[in-house]
Amino acid sequence: MNDFNLDQKYILNTYKRLPIEIKKGRGSYLYDINNKKYLDMFAGIAVSSLGHHHPKIIKAIKKQSKNYLHLSNYYTSKTSVALAKKLVEHSFASKVFFTNSGTEANEAALKLVRKYGKTIDSKKTKIIALHEAFHGRTYGGLSLTGQPHYQEAFKPLIPDIIHIQRNDVKALETVVSDDVCAIFIEMIQGESGVQPLDSDFINAINIYAKKHQFLIVADEVQTGLLRTGKLFAYEHTNLVPDILTLAKSLGGGLPLGAMLVSRLYEDILKPGDHGTTFGGNPLSCATGLVVMQELSNSKMILAVQDKSEYLFQQLENLKSKYPVITEIRGKGLMIGVEVGQKALDIQVKAYELGVLLNVTHQTVIRLLPPLNIHKKELDQFINIFESILKTV
Ligand SMILES: Cc1ncc(COP(=O)(O)O)c(C=O)c1O
Repeated sequence: MNDFNLDQKYILNTYKRLPIEIKKGRGSYLYDINNKKYLDMFAGIAVSSLGHHHPKIIKAIKKQSKNYLHLSNYYTSKTSVALAKKLVEHSFASKVFFTNSGTEANEAALKLVRKYGKTIDSKKTKIIALHEAFHGRTYGGLSLTGQPHYQEAFKPLIPDIIHIQRNDVKALETVVSDDVCAIFIEMIQGESGVQPLDSDFINAINIYAKKHQFLIVADEVQTGLLRTGKLFAYEHTNLVPDILTLAKSLGGGLPLGAMLVSRLYEDILKPGDHGTTFGGNPLSCATGLVVMQELSNSKMILAVQDKSEYLFQQLENLKSKYPVITEIRGKGLMIGVEVGQKALDIQVKAYELGVLLNVTHQTVIRLLPPLNIHKKELDQFINIFESILKTV
């Protein structure tokens, strides 16, 4: 029995696996058990931002594993302190809470904002979130995720969460009040097809958050860490969040999430209020430090912006030639290409031709390549993508 069949036999059937068995990854490529080489255009859904088997990540793992892998939260650890310092130095935040995943970072944020609300008024418990948002699969994350098909079977969910349509200022106006303790947003909604928030909506959030004293939580699990061409996606706007959540690429391939908190709210959670056994694991923080060092480097930032411009240009060229592409959205190297019902066909043809693509929201090819992808690799993608567009 091959691993694909063993997977079906022994692992709960909650994922749609692609019929490919990967043996190893190097740079922007994955290799299957028959040594077929695939250009990885979604990097483990925005996790492997430095590509696969990055030498500095491997070195950090070796170095840290010589000392210790786990200590427990009774001790401080050098790598987690260094990573927290780096995150604070490069953001609005003054302190960090580490988790293992994005959904757990959002759980931490949920607890913080509810406690914040209670410090003002026992009725200040309402949370605004957006339809088509994605914030994770645990009960808190799922309750925030405004997508009935993920939620329905698991109700009742966490109460007092109100969903409104993204970019609908009028809807926002009808739900804001002093009873709201927070709004959760993704600057660009990833899972729902790379859908950005517009500036009118962002301005309105800023105004109402001040007026009604509610906190702005930016879920940058997908958009964060240079994915959109700036270290954090909020930097493209005039919005500065009170809390920001990260995960995905933060650990360089190891599980790591974080909640970043601004100075005003850094003391809301007290000893004993929240915790996790593995969150901020010394090994994940060692690789996280490499990720932050690489991605906060100004040369790297400029290179991502340059590659983004190039890729958008190439995609726009294809759009003008092939009507199957109806829209191209996104920022940096987080790009959604709307192709309607052809998305899954394109995905299958692409992996036959050695390119791995992600499809989200059924109709959108979501490009999330490694941030250090080379231009010639982008050319390879464009050439193969065009050869497929000719046939669909
Ligand atoms: C914006 C956003 N938030 C939260 C999550 C959940 O992260 P995790 O799967 O690490 O729990 C995801 C995962 O795709 C995400 O895209």
